[in-house]
Parts: sequence; structure tokens; C-alpha cells
Amino acid sequence: MKVTDIRKDFPVLDRKLYGKDLVYFDNAATSQRPQSVIDEWNRITAQSNANIHRAVHTLSQECTDAYEDARNAVKDFINAPSREEVIFTSGATASINLVAYCYVEAFVNEGDEIIVTEAEHHSNIVPWYMLCQRKKAVLKVLPVDDEGQLKTELLDTLITGRTRLLCVTHISNVLGIVNPIKDIVAKAHSLNVPVLVDGAQGIVHSVVDVQDLDCDFYAFSGHKMYAATGTGVLYGKKKWLEVMPPFLGGGEMIETVSFEDIKFAAPPMRYEAGTQNFASSATLKQACEYCNLLRDNELTHDFEQICLSMENRLKNIEGLKLYGIGRPGRPKAPVYSFTIDGVHHEDLAILLDKMGVAVRSGQMCAEPVMTRFGVTGMLRASLAPYNTQEEVDAFFKALERAVAMLR
Ligand code: ALA
Repeated sequence: MKVTDIRKDFPVLDRKLYGKDLVYFDNAATSQRPQSVIDEWNRITAQSNANIHRAVHTLSQECTDAYEDARNAVKDFINAPSREEVIFTSGATASINLVAYCYVEAFVNEGDEIIVTEAEHHSNIVPWYMLCQRKKAVLKVLPVDDEGQLKTELLDTLITGRTRLLCVTHISNVLGIVNPIKDIVAKAHSLNVPVLVDGAQGIVHSVVDVQDLDCDFYAFSGHKMYAATGTGVLYGKKKWLEVMPPFLGGGEMIETVSFEDIKFAAPPMRYEAGTQNFASSATLKQACEYCNLLRDNELTHDFEQICLSMENRLKNIEGLKLYGIGRPGRPKAPVYSFTIDGVHHEDLAILLDKMGVAVRSGQMCAEPVMTRFGVTGMLRASLAPYNTQEEVDAFFKALERAVAMLR
């Protein structure tokens, strides 16, 4: 399969910005959508559009089927043991907050500990900080080294008898390192500590098998994996989902309701109160199919070469510092965050945009990573398999021009 074929599926990639061909290198924030995802959303909205799980009429059944088909697709995609362990949310942030308010609320007491890492996105720090404030619990941090690699050897001393949960990103949205989740989970489990994985980037750049990883929770967003925005997933082991109290109360998450007593529905419905974003969540099916399509051998090989060239060329720019260096067993995903001496990241991003190149700049919702490396922000170019060598060349040409203008 050739990248030229793939690109035909993404209408936005044909866009021009300021007279230049668009180079979209902000995939870690939001990836673009293939036509199949757009079509599915349109089909449901234009032709069915009725509330799911609630009515016997045909339109409602069609929407329910599309929504539940997507759940089956996600189950297969992450190899979850059962569809009941796949909960639909509005994104990775909502998934993590759901665990913070349900699982941990029920099990954490004053003086207990939650561990996060220095490489986390705010979505995997702030809910835990808030929980620790509510419960008078202690937030502990696993640091990264100068190359952005987690110092996993410290887990033995960091985890204690009071540790209730370890929260770790699969792939940092800044550093791009693929963390050794399976080893981390094994270590935590050997000390009786469950693990929540933020898979917002991991779901896109690795083959996720939750049974193989053995994690207790795996959270991710749809909009970074080619699905519609406002979609997300929380995978949770049945043993936790069955005992956790619900987060939001409302329609369809109950079994029976009276003013004296309420019985909650079984998972996943227990955690999906209110009318869901069904037209968007349904597109998770097409998104999973598309991710599988992108795993084509030829395409993967070509994409790896493009990423290699991207990384090597970045490393050769004078005054450029790249954050997150891969190593055997802990490779780097195509998420390239860097700073350039004497140039402000935001100025650079604005100029690049005027040259048709979309990148992200700033703290990347990960201020502790910025603090760790002593910077106020970075510029990030993040690639997807629909990006080409020509786009990488155009990016470097624009970067060179912009840096020359700013120095
Ligand atoms: N978490 C997204 C990013 O890294 C928004 O850009």
C-alpha cells in the first residue's frame, strides 16, 4: 500500500494554507479523519439520528446497533476480554477522571498514595492531584532521566504499602518515548498495586493488547486515532468495573429507581449516564478499521524511513535540542518536541503556519515536563502514516527560513 492511496482518504490533506500545500504535523493533538469516518457520522446524523438504547422504533435500533458495533470493534482492537469492559466516554481526560471519581474514591483514604510520572499530560496529573486534595492522600512522582526515559528502577522504593494506584502514560505526548508498560505493570502488580495507563498516544503508535499488558485501566481518545472528536474509551478490568460506584447519575445507567432505593445497571451502562455522543462514538469502528489498514507492511516500512530521516535531520540542526531519546526496548514514536537556541517556540510556530506547516507550540499540557527540562515551552512536530517525505522536506525548508528570520 502506498501513502498516495492513503492520502486520498483524507479530504483535509488537499488543503492549501496561504497558497502553500498544507503540511499537517500536529497529529499528536488531533489526527485527521478518513472519509469512512466522515461518512459514518454523516450517515447516522442524516439518516437515523434517534436516541440509543431507549426505543423500539427502527431509527433508535439503527443508532444503537452502530454504537454497540463500535464497542465490539474497540473490544477487538485492544483485545479486551469482553465488550462489557469497554466504556465510551468523551475522551481520555473523561476516562481518567471517571477512574479518579469512582475507583479511587471508593478505595483511597487519608495518607494513601497515588503515583504518577514526570512525563504525564495534565490529564493524568490534575485528576490525581484533585483526588489527593479531597482525600488528604499523597501524590508521588516517578522521575525521568535527561533523555526523557522513566527511571523505572525507582519503582521499588517509590511503591509502598500505602500505594493505591500507579498512573503512567504509554507514550508521552511531549517526549514520544514508548514506555515499557508490561514491565511496569508486572512490577506494580508484584507489589499489589493496580495500574492505569494513559493511552492517548499509545493507541495510535503501538499495537495495544490490554490482556498482554495486563493493565487495570487503559484510557484513550478517539480524535487522535482518526475517529470523530468528543469520543473516548476507558477499558477497565471487570473485577474493578463491577465493584466501582458510578460517577454520573442519570438515564440508562440504572436497573431500578424508586425514591427509597436505586439499583445500578451492570457495566458498561453503569458508567454511561445520559444520552451519549452516539453518532461520533459509532465512528470508532471505522477508526479501528483504519488503524488496522495503516498497519500494512509496506506503508509501515516507508513511514519508519520518513521518521528516521525526520529525527536525524532535527538532530543535525545547530542549536536544536530534541527532547526524548529512544533506546532499545523503549523506542521513540514520531512525536518530536524541540527547542532552538535564541528562537521562541511560539514565534516559530506562527511563521511556520504562514508557510503552510501546522505544528504545536507551548507547554503541550505537560508543564512538569517543561519544568524538568528547564524550558517554558517547546515546538512539537508529530507525524502520522499519511505524512510524506516531501512534507518532511517542506517542513525543514520552512523551519530553516523561519529560524533565519527570527535570529
Ligand atoms: N494532548 C494534546 C496534545 O498533546 C492536546 O497536543
